[in-house]
Amino acid sequence: MELLVISGSTRRGSFNTRLARLVRDVRPDDQVTVVSDLAALPFYDADVEATGIPSAVTALRGAVAVADVVVFVTPEYNGTVPGVLGNAVDWLSRPHGESVLQRKPVLVLSASPSRFGAVRAADHLRTVLHRIGAQVLPAGLSVAGAHRRLAEPVDPEVVGQLADVLGSVLDVRTAPSGSAEPDLLPA
Ligand SMILES: Cc1cc2nc3c(=O)[nH]c(=O)nc-3n(C[C@H](O)[C@H](O)[C@H](O)COP(=O)(O)O)c2cc1C
Repeated sequence: MELLVISGSTRRGSFNTRLARLVRDVRPDDQVTVVSDLAALPFYDADVEATGIPSAVTALRGAVAVADVVVFVTPEYNGTVPGVLGNAVDWLSRPHGESVLQRKPVLVLSASPSRFGAVRAADHLRTVLHRIGAQVLPAGLSVAGAHRRLAEPVDPEVVGQLADVLGSVLDVRTAPSGSAEPDLLPA
């Protein structure tokens, strides 16, 4: 499977980018691409859009279009999704009615040093993605205490939880028909 993993943090040493990269480790048989440079996207502006789609936006839309599943990994800023990720989602939601996210299976993960693991940002992001028309997968993982649990070496419990979450949604798609829960994610 082709997985696109988008980190909502551009910070060096980001816990969310660490979690995003961990997807590669737990899914060695999948093609995993990690995006951690959303600051390359200009701020969404209809005037900019009208004069031509910026190349960074075209590249991100293309990566989303070819992915079987897009995994968003979001930090939490002031109880919601950071602006840089909201901006990326705004670009991906356009053109209205023709978004590459429409019907795209998406999974939301999050991480924060707090004891809530950015669960509010994850919930907000799911709501927005659902509104755009993405197929928001019911599973998810919010890593609390990320400064400890995603430090090297990563807490093996987090690795196991991530593998379980990804397996629960991805392996259903590749399982032969007639296997358990075939209607969860029809391939
Ligand atoms: C402007 C700002 C607002 C924040 N608000 C929250 C918050 O509401 N909830 C939370 O859990 N952490 C909050 N934090 C702390 C972030 O979770 C923390 O900086 C985290 O490391 C960011 O993710 P990253 O490591 O992937 O960059 C905030 C940080 C900043 C800079």
